Amino acid sequence: MRENAAVHPLSITLLSGDEAAQAVGALGALLRDAVEGGASVGFVVPLAEDVIAAYWAGIVAEVARGTRLLLVARQGAQIVGTAQLDLVQRPNSLHRAEVQRVLVLSRARRAGIARALMLAVEEAARARGRTLLVLDTQAGSAAEPLYRGLGYTEAGRIPDYAGAPDGSLIATVIFYKHI
Ligand SMILES: CC(C)(COP(=O)(O)OP(=O)(O)OC[C@H]1O[C@@H](n2cnc3c(N)ncnc32)[C@H](O)[C@@H]1OP(=O)(O)O)[C@@H](O)C(=O)NCCC(=O)NCCS
Repeated sequence: MRENAAVHPLSITLLSGDEAAQAVGALGALLRDAVEGGASVGFVVPLAEDVIAAYWAGIVAEVARGTRLLLVARQGAQIVGTAQLDLVQRPNSLHRAEVQRVLVLSRARRAGIARALMLAVEEAARARGRTLLVLDTQAGSAAEPLYRGLGYTEAGRIPDYAGAPDGSLIATVIFYKHI
């Protein structure tokens, strides 16, 4: 992976609505890879193609409306990772945003892609006046040390919060970071 990264340097891009619409195939593959690998990111197995398509169509619509940021990490032309920032629209919470769906292809992991995506998310949030980031993640997952290492503070844990892809209930950790 690190050799490949040297041949194809990593680039992180914020997608427009049109660009997001063009990327749904690769984004769908990323989501499938994560869910079938056991990540608790909102879906269960078996994961039907129309469920994936409907999910990304909703995301594309929010990106086009400007209420959500969608970032992708590419190596060469290939999308190898993604992250989202939900720009909270409530009038009393315009300083806040929620990080969602940080996904990196299984074969591209542990090469710093998620960290690079998160740094880009923070920069994009700051540029839009969002000074507080919140997120939740599966307790004990690979994402937990990722967020801790980026300076996120644990607000607490909720047992049995969401289902793993196989339906078993798992605990969630809620994190926040002032940026
Ligand atoms: C979590 C995930 C996004 C991490 O992506 P990644 O590109 O491999 O992460 P990075 O290489 O940027 O790792 C940055 C740091 O996070 C931590 N980390 C990442 N993966 C880890 C793992 N499997 N075990 C322990 N720590 C891990 C480490 O501290 C790592 O730094 P290091 O490699 O210098 O030790 C990836 O494993 C993934 O897509 N998982 C499935 C989807 C998911 O759970 N997403 C989170 C939803 S909130």
